[in-house]
Amino acid sequence: MNLLSLFPLSLRFKTIDSTQNFLKRNYKKLNNFTFVFSDYQREGKGRHGRKWISASSANLLFSFLIKDIKLVKRFDTLSIFVATIIKELLTSFEIENVQIKWPNDVYINSKKVAGILLEGINEGNELSALVIGIGLNVNQDTFEDGLRISPTSLKLELNKDINIKQLRKKTYKLFYKKLKNIDSIDYLKIANESNYLKDKRVTFEYNGKEMTGVARNINPDNSLSIEKDGEIFNVKSGEVNSIKAS
Ligand code: BTN
Repeated sequence: MNLLSLFPLSLRFKTIDSTQNFLKRNYKKLNNFTFVFSDYQREGKGRHGRKWISASSANLLFSFLIKDIKLVKRFDTLSIFVATIIKELLTSFEIENVQIKWPNDVYINSKKVAGILLEGINEGNELSALVIGIGLNVNQDTFEDGLRISPTSLKLELNKDINIKQLRKKTYKLFYKKLKNIDSIDYLKIANESNYLKDKRVTFEYNGKEMTGVARNINPDNSLSIEKDGEIFNVKSGEVNSIKAS
């Protein structure tokens, strides 16, 4: 067996508009689990139509394609699954206190180190593929002022530069292995053990109403339980416009 049969395809660009957009444009001719990395993105995208701005060659910016229909159907739970892979990657650098901020961020000591963007591709009314994008702050040590959430990076946490080339390889291999074995991984347990919001007071918007409660567990359908006056609300990320911990 050669490496190509083990690992379908990993592309790397020096510069691109967005790895996310590349896969969305080209998904028809690409295989399941194609990975696209780029050193720089001219139009990096974050969630909720925000921009994802990253210094050139400093960070990991990548997206991968899912066409396996069994996985496509797990749309709702994949971003938490991906967050647990990032947690494992960071923990392998002996970084402590890596937490998963529902629904799709990864924090170290309450600062954001990675964000996940999951987009579906429809053919007619059918969801036929997914593109999952990850921005992981690696060697960037200064960030623009006024970001909504304080950022951090591996370099800031470890006080040393990380070899991006090695990290890229390691990331690709780890993601590929985990995606292949998704059915045997209890990722929900990992997510709940490192659930950043757990037992924190959160404000959230539910059916157009602003409410406050205490966050509890992440559920198998990827909803978050929020307790309010003894009542449990299971909120789906799509139903929550903002969730702030205080
Ligand atoms: C977020 O936290 O808002 C999600 C950020 C996702 C950013 C990544 S970087 C690689 C991929 N390409 C993009 O344009 N966006 C994602």
